[in-house]
Amino acid sequence: MGKLETKSARVEGGLAESQERQRRAGGPLAESQERRRYDARSHRASSLDLDPAALHELAQAFVSLTNGHLTRGSEGPVFPDVSGAMLREAFDQPLPEEGEPLPNIVDDCHALLATSRDGGHPRMFGYVSSPATPVGVYGSLLTGALDANVVAWRSAPAATTIERLVVRWLGELVGYGGAEPAGLLTSGGSMSNLSAVLMALRATAPPGADPARRGLWYQGRPPTMYVSDQTHFSSSKAAEVLGVGRDQVRVVPSDDGYRLDPRALDEAIALDLRRGLRPFCVVASSGTVTTGAIDPLAELARVAHARGLWLHVDGAYGALAAAAPEKRHLFAGLAEADSLSLDPHKWLYGPVGCGCLLVRDPAVARDALGGGANYVVKIFEEDPDEAFAFFDYGIELSRPFRALSLWLMLRYYGARRVADAIGDDCALAECLAERVRTSDDFELLAPVTLGICCFRYAPPASRRVLAGGDEAARAAENERLNALNEKIVHRVQRGGRAYLSNANLRGRVALRASITNYRTTIEDLDLTLEAVREAAREVGEGAY
Ligand SMILES: Cc1ncc(COP(=O)(O)O)c(C=O)c1O
Repeated sequence: MGKLETKSARVEGGLAESQERQRRAGGPLAESQERRRYDARSHRASSLDLDPAALHELAQAFVSLTNGHLTRGSEGPVFPDVSGAMLREAFDQPLPEEGEPLPNIVDDCHALLATSRDGGHPRMFGYVSSPATPVGVYGSLLTGALDANVVAWRSAPAATTIERLVVRWLGELVGYGGAEPAGLLTSGGSMSNLSAVLMALRATAPPGADPARRGLWYQGRPPTMYVSDQTHFSSSKAAEVLGVGRDQVRVVPSDDGYRLDPRALDEAIALDLRRGLRPFCVVASSGTVTTGAIDPLAELARVAHARGLWLHVDGAYGALAAAAPEKRHLFAGLAEADSLSLDPHKWLYGPVGCGCLLVRDPAVARDALGGGANYVVKIFEEDPDEAFAFFDYGIELSRPFRALSLWLMLRYYGARRVADAIGDDCALAECLAERVRTSDDFELLAPVTLGICCFRYAPPASRRVLAGGDEAARAAENERLNALNEKIVHRVQRGGRAYLSNANLRGRVALRASITNYRTTIEDLDLTLEAVREAAREVGEGAY
């Protein structure tokens, strides 16, 4: 007790002295320091806590902003009518030396919402964009309030338990892993893929190689990995980051349905073995980012495993569609994968910043990534639950509580309702494809497997040339259509009524609509096709 009092007196003395120094120095904070009323024992003037009235005012303001945004409907633009210079001018200000009144800040939050691209708009079809659910949004608020650092059970006992549960639920949703699939939530698909390739590299190292210690120097033969020409670039980037190198990534051609061809894969591996390389990993896709194609997973597992390679399935975009009963059959063979990425922030309508890596064999995952932690984080618990640490399965140490929003959301809506929303997204993509097929000015460019429809604007005159026998004329027409559709996509994006992204499908520029949005309806599809036609009229006048 005596010791503590002495220490507290020292702290008081030190703080008072430092205040006095600042006052005498007359620095920018001197005047406000002077005004402070300060009792070092029970209160500190520099505390950032708020009194109950101010907290209430803050909560009211932000609940009102949040609910206003959640109920905004589809009247506003998907993309704001702004320029870079306008935004710089709107938000530019000097670093605020003193706090500003809350109403000013709230006004600027209104401006922020009004000038943002609306990722949850029902006609936002670009890239892979999905709105967080209201339950997930309020889950994020609670996540912030708890501010747990989910390193290990010791740092966040309940949060760790809940994350492990949610990881198990995610495996169950898509039919991957047994009762206890190992895994963890990550920042997104890129981080999951990076962790998976690292795991593959280590798990397939020759016995005694000790790759964690010796790095790539243990490799007599260059490790080589296999992707298709449709695989998301984050897997090749993982090879770059890990020092495997892009030259050691074989890009195997996909078939007519944009799926990795198992026979071509097997031949590529055999060739590399003959060249003395060390094939170590195949990255298959369960839902390619461009068209949503699903690779033949069961056959790829057979090829990879017969040759001793790790099979990673990148399901960042599409794997969660396996939760929809009508789509589950497309994912046959998924359970054979050694690891699987899937992104709740894409197709479980979770808040951005939430991916997941699942691993079939927890022991292999732990052998590959566990150990190496220094004494500061040494765990003394012996009970396996209490000794659990996420850094034994992934790369991050400090980690946010990503599971909370998912846990709340799955409990609030139930898995069936969420799976229905995913199934409806897929049905809408098919519906869009049907409208494209039955129109005379659109052309479908790829089969629709999940929630992505790739098509282009191709008016009747153009279609006649494309159907003709003159190859040079067909090629020229294709070039014209590519230029036209590039202009269309840009105009649609900046027009604000709908947002499509672009894709290049074997030399043909496509308008790509990806539907991962529980708000989208058939009416939104029709309005989008109208927006495309209008853009075509505006940019293509006189061309046909
Ligand atoms: C198939 C696939 N893999 C990986 C990624 C990367 O995911 P993230 O943006 O969450 O890092 C994406 C992103 O669209 C994707 O579609």
